[in-house]
Amino acid sequence: GKVVLAFSGGLDTSICVPLLKEHYGFDEVVTVAVDVGQPQHEVEEATKKGEKIADRHYTIDAREQFVREHVFRAIKANGSYEGYPMGTALARPLIAEEIVAVARKEDAVAIAHGCTGKGNDQLRFDFIFRAHGYEVVAPIREMNLTREWEIEYAEEHGIPVPVKKEKPWSIDENFWSRSIEGGKLEDPAYHPPEEIYAWTASLTDAPDEPEVISIGFEQGVPVSLNGKTMAGEDLIKELNVIAGRHSVGRNDMMEDRILGLKARENYEHPAATVLLAAHHDLERLVLTRQELAFKQVIDAKWSELAYMGLVHEPLYADLNAFVDTTQERVTGTVDCMLFKGGVHIMGRSAPQALYSDDLVSFDSKTIDQCDAVGVSKYFGMQARLLQKVRKN
Ligand code: ARG
Ligand code: SIN
Repeated sequence: GKVVLAFSGGLDTSICVPLLKEHYGFDEVVTVAVDVGQPQHEVEEATKKGEKIADRHYTIDAREQFVREHVFRAIKANGSYEGYPMGTALARPLIAEEIVAVARKEDAVAIAHGCTGKGNDQLRFDFIFRAHGYEVVAPIREMNLTREWEIEYAEEHGIPVPVKKEKPWSIDENFWSRSIEGGKLEDPAYHPPEEIYAWTASLTDAPDEPEVISIGFEQGVPVSLNGKTMAGEDLIKELNVIAGRHSVGRNDMMEDRILGLKARENYEHPAATVLLAAHHDLERLVLTRQELAFKQVIDAKWSELAYMGLVHEPLYADLNAFVDTTQERVTGTVDCMLFKGGVHIMGRSAPQALYSDDLVSFDSKTIDQCDAVGVSKYFGMQARLLQKVRKN
């Protein structure tokens, strides 16, 4: 039979190609690399390598869909997990769907991936592959392979191994977020070296001058930067550069994985940090108190499902429907100051703001303050009544 392999071009997924034939007995291996905005040279290398070692290779550009279906939804739902903006988790379901589409086209009998048996990605991938009825093959997880064995096996099979001796970290990147884990970082007490970061300047290198930027939102999604209308991916990339210069958006944390393992994770996500802060601030201007309180619960549940990659769970669609109606009014502009790792909201405005300076101002007389006296007489009445009852 034929198997389709989720392919990144790295050592793990590369050795899966011969393993799927020699160890698992498949006749044909089709590799698929999905572009969700990882560095362009990585996509190119994966393409070249797949074309060289597999029976057939596909590279699929899913960047547009990644922004529209996953990143924008995350912004609307203020998507974060244990305090950081999710990135890897948002991309996995889309990558998996693209691989399923190829498996269908190629009439494959199974889908393979190179995830370990310790992480989250295996579960996110498996869920989607199984949801579409495919058998899952995961050689790295099933064969408990070591790196040395992998390198030797690769050399025997004429698979180019990156010249860098030991790749010190495992990096997962798309334009929303960059995650770094593994190697020495696995000691939670180890201080990360500056070199793990690629998008953010260190706090000590951040400029001494603050920078104020302005972000325009339409129905909950960012559409302009400093007054210039921009497409999602371009806006995010440009904002990554601007906010990254100010050292905005680093995380160094202990994360609870789905399986319950704690893992030390380092992230950088400058644009995501700014956009989530600005978006939430704008919501506070346009949504009612009731909506804000309830949406906080919805956002938390949305984030939990997104972290687990459970996008076929019907509740995920239900939550998106709720979120989308709330976002119809989330149109406006938010100004933010970036300074030494911080994002500070400086001002906000919206055509449908639920704010009236005429009502709230210390200087206006539109509200007859005497009206509040009647309200005040009833306010907290039951508590006062209880005090009275207790005294008797
Ligand atoms: N812990 C994060 C997540 O589960 C990031 C995983 C990144 N994967 C990687 N191979 N570096 O979403
Ligand atoms: C892996 O273990 O395959 C990558 C990390 C993760 O899935 O969390």
